[in-house]
Amino acid sequence: MSKYLVTSGLPYANGKLHIGHLAGAYLPADVYVRFLRLNNEDVIYMCGTDEHGAPISIRAEAEGKTPQEIVDYYHKSIVKSFDGVNIKFDNFSGTARPEHHKLSQQFFLNLLKNSYINTHNTKQMYCENDKRFLPDRYVEGECPFCHTSGARGDQCDACGKLLDANQLVNPVCKICGNTPVIKETKHWFLDLPAFAEQLKTWLNDKPNWKDNVKKFILSWIEEGLIERSITRDINWGVALPEYQGSDAVDLEDIKGKVLYVWFDAPIGYISSTVEWAKKIGQPDKWKDYWFDPDCRIVHFIGKDNIPFHAIIWPSLLMGQDEKYTLPWDIPANEYLTLEGQKISTSKDWAIWVEDFLKYFDGELLRFVLCANAPESKDADFSWKDFQALVNNSLANVLGNLANRVYAFTKKNFNSKLELHKSISGKNKKFLDEINAICKDIHQSYSEFKIRKVVKTIIDLAREGNRFFDEAKPWQLIKEDKPASEEVLFVCAELLKKISICFYPILPESMLKLRKMSNLDLNFKWDDICVCNKSFEIGEIEPLFKKIEDNQIQEQIDLLYSKTKLKDETDNIIKDAPVKDVIEFDDFVKIDLRVVKILTAEKIKKSKKLLKLQVQSGSEKRQVLAGIAESWEAEDLIGKSVVMLFNLKPRKMMGELSEGMILAAEDKDGRAIPLTTLQQVNSGAVIS
Ligand code: MF3
Ligand code: ZN
Repeated sequence: MSKYLVTSGLPYANGKLHIGHLAGAYLPADVYVRFLRLNNEDVIYMCGTDEHGAPISIRAEAEGKTPQEIVDYYHKSIVKSFDGVNIKFDNFSGTARPEHHKLSQQFFLNLLKNSYINTHNTKQMYCENDKRFLPDRYVEGECPFCHTSGARGDQCDACGKLLDANQLVNPVCKICGNTPVIKETKHWFLDLPAFAEQLKTWLNDKPNWKDNVKKFILSWIEEGLIERSITRDINWGVALPEYQGSDAVDLEDIKGKVLYVWFDAPIGYISSTVEWAKKIGQPDKWKDYWFDPDCRIVHFIGKDNIPFHAIIWPSLLMGQDEKYTLPWDIPANEYLTLEGQKISTSKDWAIWVEDFLKYFDGELLRFVLCANAPESKDADFSWKDFQALVNNSLANVLGNLANRVYAFTKKNFNSKLELHKSISGKNKKFLDEINAICKDIHQSYSEFKIRKVVKTIIDLAREGNRFFDEAKPWQLIKEDKPASEEVLFVCAELLKKISICFYPILPESMLKLRKMSNLDLNFKWDDICVCNKSFEIGEIEPLFKKIEDNQIQEQIDLLYSKTKLKDETDNIIKDAPVKDVIEFDDFVKIDLRVVKILTAEKIKKSKKLLKLQVQSGSEKRQVLAGIAESWEAEDLIGKSVVMLFNLKPRKMMGELSEGMILAAEDKDGRAIPLTTLQQVNSGAVIS
């Protein structure tokens, strides 16, 4: 028996879970844990929400809430989604909890004491309006490489390049829209190069790791490790603990700084275990896992998390005083795409777990995400494939096998299949084959090859149908009833074996399958090869329902309509900063009127200005409007527009302007004069 501690990358508590999350880090872990339990291993499964980081505080600010409110809301939503697909943790914590903060600070202080942390003065964006430093994600601007606007301070989504906020062209503060300045600030850096040798030794000891993970890490190390900053200037996160430094660090420098989210998040694996140990009334029990060098710590993650788990995290552990156990394996998965496109939460190109569960059983999601797991390369989820997989593999193959075997038994053998001890010939050969295949399945599970597991089990069920067809028990029964019963017994044995080896993937359905043939609901992997009981068939229910075309069409329509809606909202212009509040008395000073454009012509020396003659009631006026780049003069003639009527007359380009035409600036910068919905007489006053 071995000891295992399994984790899944902590989901950020700033959004709901979508199917891509499940496929990458959670479902494979839950399946693995269930598999280990079937094998009597000592295993605990730890997780929690990742509750820090700039995106959470940005979101809180945007929604006028506290970060804690955001975190609480999504923590609940995430827990509910996990429940709906039967992903069961031994503990699900959150990194905003006090115990976690304490432990993270202790990690930091230990690293500092052991000289693995240095400070450097760095240049950073500072907003003089908001009086604060702006972390990367708080700054937006034009990408210096592809020149797309809206690039974030850490990365340009258009060209994918990693950026430094200082490189952005025309940077703006995301909070207030002003232009930030560059200021010096002190930051703390983790001395990764100091761990390079230790990391290499540790990695060399992991020959069986997945290729994608190993390649990634080795190339990182080869490129040369550099110091990484582990502090940020925001007020949401684990506060940088106060300490007396030998270098010139004063408390002022520490104030307002928090640990970088990727510093504290993985420590969440430990703090969740500490929380669990307390809950079960054995407060020291967490040490049995974290300080036992033989404990197998397995981190399931998505591929974007590899460097943090395989380089930074082990370094944090190595730099402690206590001898923490290092990760035993890091099975990282590739990405899941949706209908051939990258899942995007901002474009709402995603299937949210909670939405899926409104229409379909969570078991089906487990099945399709395992059958099509992004294990060694990206995989795609499409609604049509989902339907085909469920209908063909589950309903037509496995469900059909169960149904025909049990129904035949019910009808012809009074629901009972006696134990057949001395099975021989073809039947024996088939049973032996099945047992051998179950060994392969065991192997695949241990190697995290869940796609292969699913395929093998469905093939096995297909073989079962073929065996049934070839043995023709419905004919056999006429000549040799016991022989016919033996065929059914072998088929029931097969279903029993499947109920065990498919259990980690389809726990509910396999329990249902076992209930139908009155099998013990407490079972272990080793029961696969134990053949010592008769069967008694109970109530038969279809194991899986087929999915109809219209159900799938509904989902496809939903997916596309959501994302279209999103396109429309994307066209809304970024909120401009709101100006200072004015009194009503200020407003009534403004004289707005509807005027009719009588003539319009370009002003020669100006690219922007049009000269308009307008009529308001009986009065005619001349105004200059800066809309020449947006409109052809002729197109404006005859239009009624809104004009600021009591603006002090002024001269531009030698021409008099007696007012101002009001126009809205469209997303692409086009000036659109305000017109009225209905024809209004010129001279009408607007108030
Ligand atoms: N929240 C991170 C993500 O979703 C994962 C954190 S994993 C941990 O990408 F180890 F840091 F917790
Ligand atoms: Zn600002």
